Amino acid sequence: MAESMKGLKRSHRCTEVTKAEIGSTVTLMGWVQKSRNKGGIVFVDLRDRSGIMQIIFENGDIDEQGFEKAGRLRSEFVIAVKGRVEARSGAVNPNLPTGEIEVRAIELRILSEAETPPFPIEENSKTRDEVRLKYRYLDLRRPDLQKNMMLRSQVSTLVRQFLAKEGFLEIETPTLIKSTPEGARDYLVPSRVHPGSFYALPQSPQIFKQLLMCSGYDRYFQIARCYRDEDLRADRQPEFTQIDMELSFVDVEDVLDVNERMLAFLFKEVLGVEVQLPIERMTWIDAMNRFGSDKPDLRFGMELTDVSEVVKDCEFAVFKGALENGGSVRGINAKGQGAMPRKKIDKLVEFAKGYGAKGLAYIAIGEDGTVKSSFAKFMKEEEMQALIQAMKGENGDLLLLAADKTKLVWDVLGALRLELAKQMDLLDKNEYRFVWITEFPLLEWSEEDERFTAMHHPFTMPMEEDLQYIDTEPGRVRAKAYDIVLNGNEIGGGSVRIFQDDVQEKMFEALGFTKEEAQKQFGFLLDAFKYGVPPHAGLAYGLDRLVMLMAKVDSIRDVIAFPKVKDASCLMSEAPDIVDEKQLEELGIAIVAQKEETTEE
Ligand code: AMO
Ligand code: AMP
Repeated sequence: MAESMKGLKRSHRCTEVTKAEIGSTVTLMGWVQKSRNKGGIVFVDLRDRSGIMQIIFENGDIDEQGFEKAGRLRSEFVIAVKGRVEARSGAVNPNLPTGEIEVRAIELRILSEAETPPFPIEENSKTRDEVRLKYRYLDLRRPDLQKNMMLRSQVSTLVRQFLAKEGFLEIETPTLIKSTPEGARDYLVPSRVHPGSFYALPQSPQIFKQLLMCSGYDRYFQIARCYRDEDLRADRQPEFTQIDMELSFVDVEDVLDVNERMLAFLFKEVLGVEVQLPIERMTWIDAMNRFGSDKPDLRFGMELTDVSEVVKDCEFAVFKGALENGGSVRGINAKGQGAMPRKKIDKLVEFAKGYGAKGLAYIAIGEDGTVKSSFAKFMKEEEMQALIQAMKGENGDLLLLAADKTKLVWDVLGALRLELAKQMDLLDKNEYRFVWITEFPLLEWSEEDERFTAMHHPFTMPMEEDLQYIDTEPGRVRAKAYDIVLNGNEIGGGSVRIFQDDVQEKMFEALGFTKEEAQKQFGFLLDAFKYGVPPHAGLAYGLDRLVMLMAKVDSIRDVIAFPKVKDASCLMSEAPDIVDEKQLEELGIAIVAQKEETTEE
């Protein structure tokens, strides 16, 4: 039976009460974390989003009826307590912010009773993810998730504060739109008024923010929800949030400058971490050559070495074949891993195969200098020595080599480097290493579509000095695009935009768009450009990823209040779901039954 809180007003959150309040009366409201009935005294840990306060109910301080009620309290009951703040009579608890004080209750109301929750509400829950997500509203009561959500809110507030001070305007853009050009699959929303027509949910506010530049708003930002129907991973959700911005009359330097200062401000305010400015920059090609990734984790070394030159005359068919096919042979040196058991090395080979490698060649150097290798029999002794030297192999090291098309070699070794770093425990979540990746290729060849596609999006400006190659060697053109990478995560990306007709036309040509197709898809943007467009550039962060790293957790799920699981469903609300026949009728939509795999009876 629930009581009302009439006549009571919360005076503090639990941990807002300090030693300074000893002797005064406070009113606290929250959830019972636990209660212990010790005969004449009931101890209750009261929890709210700030933390925990110990409450003491003793007959005499509180009337008979109140004391009787205290005896009935169970975990997750919602209560209001009025009481006197006292220094702790029993053992002081140094682990609690309120560990030196307690509240002696003089009044108690049970605002809501609670069934026993399906899992205990506690930090570092061992409960299976599926159960936690089904009862997300309970999961969200846990202190670690509450901390993450509060941190996320703080980040958004500080971003708004910083950008407003820098002259950015916060402007909302629509979410029922025509398809955007970010390259993932769209989520579609059927139109009732226009049967057979669909809105797309935005993959980003890209086109609208460029239009805002055409309209003279000059510095825009938005904390924008974006939707992409793509395969989910720990750092990908079907709906996620961007800190999105666009600036007029700027070039690359201006965008990087304001963003570096914003990151430094955020990390200082939220974590007390000093970000060294300027943030290091690395061209895309350097990142690929050195780390096999366009989002290198710079918290550790283990850089790639190109040994193609060193092995070019050897007889090992794997190396020879790769080089003859225009590929390369590259390797990494896992320092001190020379004694890795054969079984574990085999696992690394399997791991590499998972990334498309045909194999992984290795050289294990013992502490005494003896060499064990999967391909020594194909090599001359001096070739082996030259290879070890080129990779700076020393006693106790494990050298791993991949030979194939260069792009594949990068992928394989880039992933292997990270896997080894995990195994070797080289990753410290308290260390923050930022890097800008610049000079991305403008276009990348898509085997699937058999044409070039935009690496960022079709409005990204080519570098002036490379424009000459756009007709003849499109793959060689670099873009004025940049990503901001933190500890191996792409936390943001952006570019300078094309604002000249002729360049845009060339870009569409390179992408294999006819003029008509371009006009049909992006006509309103191209038209807007005809009426006076400022040079402009922008960037968008994945807010979820940024907060994930600041919260030192492994999945963006832990910083999103109501996330979805791998198959893009919500375990709590069971979205997506079938809808009423009538709703479909109104939309003019008929469901075609998916053909079941027919099995012979
Ligand atoms: P981009 O596609 O690189 O650029 O997206 C910007 C940032 O958004 C984050 N992100 C995601 N986070 C969670 N789940 C996802 N599915 C997901 N997809 C992307 C990443 C990424 O760096 N309009 C351009 C920006 C611009 O050019 O200004 C854009 O959307 O952290
Ligand atoms: P094989 O001659 O197939 O027995 O291969 C000899 C060694 O080379 C084995 O350790 C294979 O794992 C390795 N290997 C095979 N293909 C590749 C490749 N593309 N790159 C690197 N090593 C490879």
